[in-house]
Amino acid sequence: MRWYRRLITPAPDEPRAFFITGGSAGIGRAAAKLFVALGNDVAVTARRQERLEALRAECEAEELPGRLLPLVADVTDAQAMQQAVARALATFNRLDVVIANAGIGHRGPLVEASWEDLETVLRTNIDGVLHTVRATVPALRASGGGHIVLISSVLGPVPAPYSAVYSASKAAVDSLGRALRGELKGDRIRVSVLWVGQTHTEFAERRLGEGGRVAVRWPTMTAEQVAGGIARVLEQHQRAMTLRWVDSVFVCVGRRLPALMDWLLTRFYRPA
Ligand SMILES: NC(=O)c1ccc[n+]([C@@H]2O[C@H](COP(=O)([O-])OP(=O)(O)OC[C@H]3O[C@@H](n4cnc5c(N)ncnc54)[C@H](OP(=O)(O)O)[C@@H]3O)[C@@H](O)[C@H]2O)c1
Repeated sequence: MRWYRRLITPAPDEPRAFFITGGSAGIGRAAAKLFVALGNDVAVTARRQERLEALRAECEAEELPGRLLPLVADVTDAQAMQQAVARALATFNRLDVVIANAGIGHRGPLVEASWEDLETVLRTNIDGVLHTVRATVPALRASGGGHIVLISSVLGPVPAPYSAVYSASKAAVDSLGRALRGELKGDRIRVSVLWVGQTHTEFAERRLGEGGRVAVRWPTMTAEQVAGGIARVLEQHQRAMTLRWVDSVFVCVGRRLPALMDWLLTRFYRPA
């Protein structure tokens, strides 16, 4: 039994209801499965219905103790997010934890990038978080408080060349998280930002733009490791955190020695 199991598993008389965006793949999927395995009620959204149904079937086949509610919703659609939250509330009667995870990457020179791709990144990573927060906060308030975890990236605090718009979108997420933390404190709603480092998911494959990354051997996490990290965030209530020492060093050096980090990143991040 992992150490966080004791912390996240609800007592029989206090069910916890989760709302996770981007649960059809990668980190969101792994987090949804983890929290269902720990006996929670989990509403999970994405656009690909068949993927969500497959996740529900998997949870049922493994007889996981919690409930999984798949909801098809595009995070860029404010109304769809409001409707998804309404359905989650109608099923679970409360909402305790929100994980704003849905996101998409972009790689390549900014000026030559198609505006359509850049706009998709901005709409998904920024508007998507805004719609998620605006739809779920009233439900968290009605439940007496809760916790919002915004899934950001180490490129939020430390932007990289040829990832300019992706980095900027995650910096916006960091800024929203910091401001909301104060705004929602009186509602007993905690807000945390998770600076995720490189993780093996469909992310790189589905990233928009061109593959601009040169061969750099950087340690990679699994989606399950990040899901475990999200469980840790829920316990520790930190305002922003990384999951590995290598990411902490990256963020720390990037913030304290920006000229050095920019020089290093310019060597590693190049156009294709
Ligand atoms: N993987 C990494 O190395 C890494 C590093 C740092 C941060 N992150 C962040 O971690 C988060 C999860 O990424 P991942 O690695 O798990 O990527 P992934 O495997 O590509 O999964 C992305 C998820 O987001 C959903 N999504 C994308 N656009 C959406 C939209 N418009 N509406 C609803 N759902 C949408 C996708 O579902 P549908 O396509 O079915 O809608 C999918 O479930 C992202 O915010 C990403 O920026 C990832």
